[in-house]
Amino acid sequence: MDRLLIDGGRRLEGTVAIAGAKNAALPQIAASLLSPEPLTLTNLPAVADVTNMLSVVGRHGVKIAAKGAHEATLDAAAAEHVEAPYDVVRKMRATVLVLGPLVARFGKAHVSLPGGCAIGARPIDLHLKVLAQLGAQADVDGGMIVASAPSGLMGGRVLLPSPSVGATETAMMAATYAKGETEIVNAACEPEVVDLAACLTAMGARIDGAGTHRISILGPTTWRPARHHTIPDRIEAGTYAIAAAITGGHLELTGARLEHLGAPAQILETAGVRIFPTDRGLMVAREGKISAIDVTTESYPGFPTDLQAQFMALMAIADGTSTIRETIFENRFMHVPELSRMGADITLRGSTAVVRGRPKLIGAPVMATDLRASVSLVLAGLAAEGRTTVNRVYHLDRGYEDLARKLVRCGAAIERVRD
Ligand code: UD1
Repeated sequence: MDRLLIDGGRRLEGTVAIAGAKNAALPQIAASLLSPEPLTLTNLPAVADVTNMLSVVGRHGVKIAAKGAHEATLDAAAAEHVEAPYDVVRKMRATVLVLGPLVARFGKAHVSLPGGCAIGARPIDLHLKVLAQLGAQADVDGGMIVASAPSGLMGGRVLLPSPSVGATETAMMAATYAKGETEIVNAACEPEVVDLAACLTAMGARIDGAGTHRISILGPTTWRPARHHTIPDRIEAGTYAIAAAITGGHLELTGARLEHLGAPAQILETAGVRIFPTDRGLMVAREGKISAIDVTTESYPGFPTDLQAQFMALMAIADGTSTIRETIFENRFMHVPELSRMGADITLRGSTAVVRGRPKLIGAPVMATDLRASVSLVLAGLAAEGRTTVNRVYHLDRGYEDLARKLVRCGAAIERVRD
């Protein structure tokens, strides 16, 4: 297992190219299963989750022709229904996204219950609920999700009790096969949902309202060959923005879009970070002190749970005390004991962390536990005095393309070593 050795205390300066969004790419790869016509995806991030998702659809018979590291043509003409087994789906939760396309196109799906980040209970009940509302029978049986719709899906009203990103995507993909109009009510509005709608539209689907809480889809779809450019990763951009802030440096994030970074950009600015658009993306700079700011995670356009751990690392060196409340996932505070090992002063009270800023952090050996927790430890290590060793780097490889190299190019002292 690889480790990262970080010698902290260097200001980061330079340019970071923001990769395609992992969380947009994953549903788009799953969507390839819907169509008998080829789908070419460009701007795919070269991360382990994408490789894994490609191998999942590959197991279902999708032919994959990669062109370089960031483009792939997915041809599901000869795809078939087969069981998506535990050894492939266990690695990440997003594999549940093949459920909707399989049941829609083939009338049945057998998918193992997924694994993924260890961030508390991550149920899939809403995915089953939306499929049931479209006329499928969907249940969990012996660790498998079993869904069927022998006479096809029927359009109608799909009501989500909460705006789950994944369940919205499952509903959108399944509804492309449903007869008549489907209206998804209380849909998630995340940019990744909007990008899935753009991808499905390029493939032939008729979709309205993506980006609002009401999405309508008129099915069934006449499929056509398509090409889609995945949006830039707003979480990667937010992470590098915090890297600039925590080291007191300045970074240009090429490809990053301010409109996708609404709440985190505003909060970083209030904390003392300057963020402004450039011709190529965004410039992020910090000159003075970082002030403590309270944050609550929310669905888009609120502050994303996927930036909570990184923001906590920043608050650990802020001037003052901040409270960080996590409302999306339970148990998403695995980084807290590790940040504390580096001298952070954090108290947990249920779903709220109280972070008392300290003048500095001290390097220490720490353990990565999930994707975003791991990167928060890297950020803390960049700011800390002395050496930080981040173990279990494979968590980072799931979602950050070339993290160590991108940081080194901007002046960080990071070495990746093999045990
Ligand atoms: C997606 C992102 C993930 C991000 C999350 C919230 C991908 C691949 N992953 O995950 O990085 O942290 O959105 O922005 O896009 N829930 C249920 N039942 C379900 C589904 C979800 O109770 O069937 C709950 C979850 O446990 C969680 C909340 O709903 O508490 C939000 O989850 P959801 O929006 O579905 O997240 P994901 O799509 O899994």
